[in-house]
Order: sequence, then structure tokens, then C-alpha cells
Amino acid sequence: MLINVVFLYRKKRLNMVGKMRKVVILSGAGMSAESGIMTFRDMGGIWEQYNIEEVASPIAWQNSPQLVLDFYNQRRKQLMEVEPNTGHLALVDLEQRYELQIITQNVDNLHERAGSSKVMHLHGELMKVRSEVNEKLVYELDHWELKLGDKAEDGNQLRPHIVWFGESVPMLEKAIPFVQEADIIIIVGTSMQVYPAASLISYSKTSAELFYIDPNAEDYHYPNLKTITQKAGEGLPLLVKQLLK
Ligand code: OAD
Repeated sequence: MLINVVFLYRKKRLNMVGKMRKVVILSGAGMSAESGIMTFRDMGGIWEQYNIEEVASPIAWQNSPQLVLDFYNQRRKQLMEVEPNTGHLALVDLEQRYELQIITQNVDNLHERAGSSKVMHLHGELMKVRSEVNEKLVYELDHWELKLGDKAEDGNQLRPHIVWFGESVPMLEKAIPFVQEADIIIIVGTSMQVYPAASLISYSKTSAELFYIDPNAEDYHYPNLKTITQKAGEGLPLLVKQLLK
């Protein structure tokens, strides 16, 4: 009897051909806000304190690399001092019963540190650096400070492994198939203002269930989208609980 109950309980999460249902998470800066990392466009956010072109663009790197390094060193130092929040942890639970792919615009590693196994970073990773000439020479940093004079094995200066404004988003092509195949898409903590990341949702299949968790979710409209006007750390655990029922 117990076996049957468990079987029925599990079957709900399988699709018609008996496979686990696919969930894609599209996360943005708000996902990590409750961990203490500032968002970009909220009041007092990072882009109110810095000019994007001066710290996050190829031209900035060319003209004032120290300023760019200082900006990302500060972000990296802070990242090493914070912890994943209840939203990140809820997504780890979801992975036990669904085939889950996280596609994040965030450059922090809080999804990974929480325990999520499939995380794709659209805009790069703060804890990685690469040769400024050869983008394939990527290295993991175990400390916060990247300095002028720190070189890759090709002898060139190391730069942050970040997609800067004006640069292409190489991971986008890899992200699209996950969105196309997803049965459930959860968008969380993003203002959906930055393209091409914001365009990913347009690849979803019409039968996909869409959720958007963000305290300002009411500002965003998309067909079949259920909005949850809560913070990630509150809304995600509740939604995950519902999906695991
Ligand atoms: P934004 O700063 O544009 O948007 C953050 C979103 O998080 C807003 O919609 C907030 O309402 C929401 N938010 C704030 N606190 C929250 C919380 N506790 N829980 C859930 N949501 C919350 O950040 P992104 O959309 O991620 O790119 O920005 C996209 C890209 O723009 C970033 O990846 C970055 C930036 O320029 C690069 O640096 C390449």
C-alpha cells in the first residue's frame, strides 16, 4: 500500500512519457538581495552609484582598467562575505523532484553555494577571470583581489570574466533550448530590462506555466504569467512547497 501511495505521489511530477517535468529558473539581482547583494536598478542600486560605461564596458577597461578592477574587486570581496538565502535553498529542494535548470543573470555564485547543480550564468561569473586577449583562458579565483599585472598563461592581463555592455552574450544560444523545453518557468528578481536575457521568455512553449516572483512584479505583463509580488526569500519557498505537493 505504501508503495502505491508513493508511486501516485511521484507520478504527478512526471510528464506524459514518464519523464520528470522540466523547470527553468530565470533569476536576476533580486534573487540575491536578501543575501545582502545590491540590485542594479532599484532605488539606491548599483547603477545609481556608478556609471555603467565607466565600470562595465570594454571602453572602460581600455581607458581606466584600475577603476574597473576596483569595482569588481569590491563586488567579489562582498560576495565572499555573504551567504545564500532561503530562496536559493528552496530551489535546491525543487531539484529533487523536477529536472531543474537555473539560468541566471547574476554573476555571484550563491545558487552553486546553496547546492543547485545546474546553473548557467548569462552575464559571466565574479569568481572567474580570464585573459583579456584569449577568452578561452578562464581561471577560478580563490581570493577577492585582481590586480593590474596579474597575467594569464598567455602573458596577457587578466580581466573579470563578466559580459560587459556592448559585448555579446555567448551563453544565450545554450540557454534557449532549456527555455523552449521547459514545462514550468519561474522568473525571479529581475526587472526584465536587459536584453537579450529578457527576450528568453519569448522562447517558452505556449503550454508552459509561467511565474514571476518580484516585489514589483505587477509592473510586468506577459500572457499566462502568474505574478507573485513577494521577495525571493518568501515567494520561492512558498511556490516550491506548492510544486512539491
Ligand atoms: P535589476 O536591478 O534591474 O532588477 C532587480 C529586480 O529585483 C527588480 O525588479 C526588483 O524589484 C527586484 N527585487 C528587489 N529585491 C528583491 C527581492 N528581495 N526578491 C526578489 N526580487 C527583488 O537587476 P537585473 O534584472 O538582474 O548586467 O539586471 C539585469 C542585468 O543588468 C544584470 O545582470 C547586470 C545589470 O546591468 C551586467 O552587469 C552585465
